[in-house]
Amino acid sequence: MKLTLKIWRQKDANTKGKIVEYQLNDVSPDMSFLEMLDVLNQNLIDKDDEPIAFDHDCREGICGMCSMYINGRAHGPDTEITVCQLHMRSFKDGDTIYIEPWRAKAFPVIKDLIVDRTAFDRIQHAGGFISVNTSGNTQDANNILISKYDADEAMDSATCIGCGACVASCKNSSAMLFVSAKVSQFALLPQGRVEATQRVLNMVKQMDEEGFGNCTNTGACEVECPKSISLTNIARMNREYLSASLKG
Ligand code: SF4
Ligand code: FES
Repeated sequence: MKLTLKIWRQKDANTKGKIVEYQLNDVSPDMSFLEMLDVLNQNLIDKDDEPIAFDHDCREGICGMCSMYINGRAHGPDTEITVCQLHMRSFKDGDTIYIEPWRAKAFPVIKDLIVDRTAFDRIQHAGGFISVNTSGNTQDANNILISKYDADEAMDSATCIGCGACVASCKNSSAMLFVSAKVSQFALLPQGRVEATQRVLNMVKQMDEEGFGNCTNTGACEVECPKSISLTNIARMNREYLSASLKG
């Protein structure tokens, strides 16, 4: 396949960026999207040009690093996958592909396609954990009975990989789907109930301080989430927040 790539280039956070056009020939439909970018970067390096900076790590849909818009959609045209799981067979010979970094105030561009998503880390630090007694008298987790329904729901929430596609797809740049998944995975389990009140208050406070927008229930986040995190998590977090506020 021959492709025209229009890619956002930005030297650093303080320099204005722009779209730069590249031509790429001999793209195999079996390449992953990131492998296609690897080939382009090798071509650029061979010509002593600066390669395109993009985030990636696991390349198997687990780490959430490979975050970018492809033709205006978070993670590209296919649903329920990350960019590293997208293959070039999803495009046609002669296509023009626009590739851009996430656009959200809370995710400033660091370089080219890489954005700073440490706002998510700070939200996690504010409450995305449980405190466990590791003195040697810790109760075996399997001693606490949990219904199959709750266990499955908690597991579904825990599959969030922190990619940020929910924020990038939301017209308000809201992080509610991400935060609600992190709150829910603990709220549904007895181990998470101990610190539930403080957790939801602290995580929502941090989310607001980071500059994410409000949720207006448009649902774009759920559509573009590669892990099918459900909007029901947001409803659960709202209930948790209301109940915690009344106690607080
Ligand atoms: S909720 Fe989905 S889109 Fe948002 S960070 Fe988690 S996995 Fe990514
Ligand atoms: S590189 Fe880890 S999810 Fe894509």
